Amino acid sequence: MSDLVVRGPTLTLRYATEADAAALFALAGPEATQWFSWGPYADEAEPLDYIRSLPARRESGVLLDFLAVHCERGPVGVTGLSEYARRDRRATVGTWFGREHWGTGVNAESKALMAHLAFATFGFHRLTAWANTRNGRSQASLERLGFRREGVLRAYNTHSSGIHDVVAFGMLPSDWEASPLHAVSVTVEGDAPAIWTSAG
Ligand SMILES: CC(C)(COP(=O)(O)OP(=O)(O)OC[C@H]1O[C@@H](n2cnc3c(N)ncnc32)[C@H](O)[C@@H]1OP(=O)(O)O)[C@@H](O)C(=O)NCCC(=O)NCCS
Repeated sequence: MSDLVVRGPTLTLRYATEADAAALFALAGPEATQWFSWGPYADEAEPLDYIRSLPARRESGVLLDFLAVHCERGPVGVTGLSEYARRDRRATVGTWFGREHWGTGVNAESKALMAHLAFATFGFHRLTAWANTRNGRSQASLERLGFRREGVLRAYNTHSSGIHDVVAFGMLPSDWEASPLHAVSVTVEGDAPAIWTSAG
C-alpha cells in the first residue's frame, strides 16, 4: 500500500515527513496561527512532535493532515480532515498557509483537492469548516468556494486568548458539484488508511 497523495494543477498534498519540520516551523508564524489553540511554534521540536504524531492519528481516523506543496514555491501550509464521523460520512476540513502564500490561489486549489478526496474518494455526505467570527478572511474564502454559512456556535473554542464564537460552514456533494472547486482537475494516488474509506 503506498501513501495517499492528492495532486492538482499546481499543488500536491502529501504526508509531512520529519524532513519537513524546518519548513513548517518557518511557515507557522503569528499571523498564520492567530486563530488557533496552538502556535506560533517556539522551536523546531514542536513541528517535529506534530509530524511524529501523524501516522497514528491517520490510522485511527482522528486526523488526516497533508503538507500542501506548490510546484514552484515548495511547502506552503497544511490542510486536513478532523472530527471524522465514520458512520455519518462527514469530517471537518481545516487549513492554514504561511502568510506569504495568502491570496495566491493555493487556498482555492487546496480546498478543491480536499473536496475531491472527501466526496469522490471517501464518499462523504458532508464537509464542515469552522471560522472564528472575527476571521473575515476565512469566512469570505469559504463562501466564495461554495461552502454554505449555517450559523454561529457560541463559546465554541477556548484558547489562551479567550473563549471564541465560530461560524459553521457546510458543503454537501450537491454544493461541491455546483462550486468552482468541482472544475479543478485532481488525481488521487495511493491509499488512505482503511478507516477513512468506508462506514465500517
Ligand atoms: C484562511 C486562509 C486559509 C485563506 O487563504 P487565503 O489565500 O488567504 O484566502 P483567499 O485569498 O482565497 O480568500 C480570502 C478572501 O477574503 C477576502 N478578505 C481578505 N481580508 C478580509 C477581511 N479582513 N475580511 C473579509 N474578507 C477579507 C479576500 O479579498 C478574499 O476574497 P476574494 O478572493 O473574493 O477577493 C489563510 O488566510 C490562512 O491560512 N489563514 C490563517 C489560518 C486560518 O485562519 N485558517 C482558517 C481557520 S478558521
